[in-house]
Amino acid sequence: MPDNNMTRRKFLATGIGVISGAIALGVGGAAITAVVAPAVTNKREDKWVEAGNADDLVQGQFNKINIAYDAKDAWMEGKIKLLAYVKPDGDNLFALSATCSHLGCNVKFDEQSGKFKCPCHTGVYDATGKNISGPPPKPLSHLEAKIEDGKLFINTGIKEA
Ligand code: FES
Repeated sequence: MPDNNMTRRKFLATGIGVISGAIALGVGGAAITAVVAPAVTNKREDKWVEAGNADDLVQGQFNKINIAYDAKDAWMEGKIKLLAYVKPDGDNLFALSATCSHLGCNVKFDEQSGKFKCPCHTGVYDATGKNISGPPPKPLSHLEAKIEDGKLFINTGIKEA
């Protein structure tokens, strides 16, 4: 005859283990989503970030600009890194996020073809950021940029094309 107390204890221990695992997966899933979501969905808070000296920008060309800033989203805090391309044309600045609209890889500007190319799944964008071939479903996101006191500032919020 089975020991009912032992069976019940085993059942409870297994149940608690399963529930703990499910909670861990749920919490982990939420954390992973919070980390991955900004890259995939391209959502970022509106924030002006200093991004170098204006004198370093080459006129008429896409300048690759790395930005890093502190961000807080619900209970998560951390450093966000963002790659942007900024093209000065006289006093005007044209800025694009380098984040591919497909799965969030960073695109590279190809001087020879004058197009942005994504190394992950061969997505291609024209020089305005419009998606022209491959899997990207949308254009590259436009960013606001400005120069103040000799410094380049980029707004990390997305301005859809
Ligand atoms: S992530 Fe750029 S084409 Fe897939």
